Amino acid sequence: MSHLKSGADYNILKADLITLSLELTHEDFKKIDFLLTKEFARGLKSTKDSTIKMYLTYVRSLPNNNERGQYLALDLGGTNFRVLLVEFKQDKADIVDCERRAIPAELRYGAGDLLFDFIAEHVVSFAIKHQLVGVRIALGFTFSFPLQQHGLAEAHLVTWTKSFNCSGVVGFDVVRLLKAALKRKMHKSIPYVDVVAIINDTTGTLIAGAVQNRNCMIGLIVGTGSNACYVEKLENVEKWPFNYSDPKQVVINTEFGAFGDNNVLDFSRTIWDRALDFESVNPGKQIYEKMISGMYLPEIFRRALLTLIERGVLFGSRLPLELLRPYSINTKIMSDIDQDTDTDTFLKTAEVLKQIFPRFEFTEVDVKIVFMINNRITKRAAQLVATGIWALAKRIKQDEVAVAYDGALISLHPYFKVWVEEKLAQFVNNNAPSKKITLIQAHDGSGYGAAIVAAVCYREKRPKVIKKKGKVYQITSFLNNTATANK
Ligand code: GLC
Repeated sequence: MSHLKSGADYNILKADLITLSLELTHEDFKKIDFLLTKEFARGLKSTKDSTIKMYLTYVRSLPNNNERGQYLALDLGGTNFRVLLVEFKQDKADIVDCERRAIPAELRYGAGDLLFDFIAEHVVSFAIKHQLVGVRIALGFTFSFPLQQHGLAEAHLVTWTKSFNCSGVVGFDVVRLLKAALKRKMHKSIPYVDVVAIINDTTGTLIAGAVQNRNCMIGLIVGTGSNACYVEKLENVEKWPFNYSDPKQVVINTEFGAFGDNNVLDFSRTIWDRALDFESVNPGKQIYEKMISGMYLPEIFRRALLTLIERGVLFGSRLPLELLRPYSINTKIMSDIDQDTDTDTFLKTAEVLKQIFPRFEFTEVDVKIVFMINNRITKRAAQLVATGIWALAKRIKQDEVAVAYDGALISLHPYFKVWVEEKLAQFVNNNAPSKKITLIQAHDGSGYGAAIVAAVCYREKRPKVIKKKGKVYQITSFLNNTATANK
């Protein structure tokens, strides 16, 4: 018996050592903060020369509650897309209806036109369902991929991320592609859906957060993917192509998921991070996102478990066949395991293991090891997010900064947000104790935010058009209706 026990302890020790590379020290996070800070500054100078692109969104001010009427929002960014009808009334906005559709894999990897046709068809039938017949209705489009924008309603896709890789879209204006598809689907007497603005989901989240809290300056998504945007002073945006008109600020979509694509993060990556990246649809791309977001964490977990089985420290070297399939684990499983508060019995973890590997027997030691690995992966992700937020919050010269967040991982995981807050507190206490950074949940920011932008844009009868270096920019500011967020 005692022999067995020491063997078991030995397995835990070995598993601990094999996966120690998943734990980063505060020194590592300080280095990551330093590298992020440098890369943000570089991106604000020139998109071309930086891995973190710091895209201009052309959203200049954050709205208050002056919008009225009904607007459509279309939210595309994960394996589902959603159409929403939002109604703004005095002091409140209601989501009248929201329809969610899964996007079949063949459309996510097929021809772009087919993808846009599929979406347009649902938008039109949604509008008909709501009897928006014979009317003109404005639509705000949340498109959560890297975009090079030339105005609020013109945006060229730079590259696909997450689980998309459609042909014929990269380099094209996605507003145009959507408009063309809508035109193909709209007939006489059915609604005229007018795409008036395109935003990223982080921008939608920031906008939705700003309605709740006037100190809201950062929008954060931790879901399938991960990214953040924030309000930057124009004087710090060297690449801003115009004069510094009021409000002297613009929302920057950082696309910080691409941090590390130039190898600067290699010192912090494990063999599982590298293997996952190597076999992904976009090798070498979105390195930071691949260490953080819900699409990838379960895959890191699966790969780490396989290594431990191979090394003879887990499941008595037996292999549950379910583990062989890439992306077979999901974030819900990881959240459930992290929820295990009983670190004597690990009952919840055992329950989850039974559920995913129904024909398998586990020892207590197996369960302990699984809990430890899972926890290391999710905690590292939360600490990396906190480091990214700290690097942005430092740029905002005000004591109180609210961060609006959305996305399934940060919203549904039992401790992710708490871990982000803990790491943020460490940075704040060591560097700027007078600063207060709070996280606020912006429910449905990507839908609601797009509707707000649509509402504000639609009221602007004639967006200002500026010609510069042969390019035409359409500028729509929120000035008429909104409070300036940065004094
Ligand atoms: C990916 C996309 C980015 C989006 C994020 C969260 O990183 O490139 O645009 O904001 O996912 O959905």
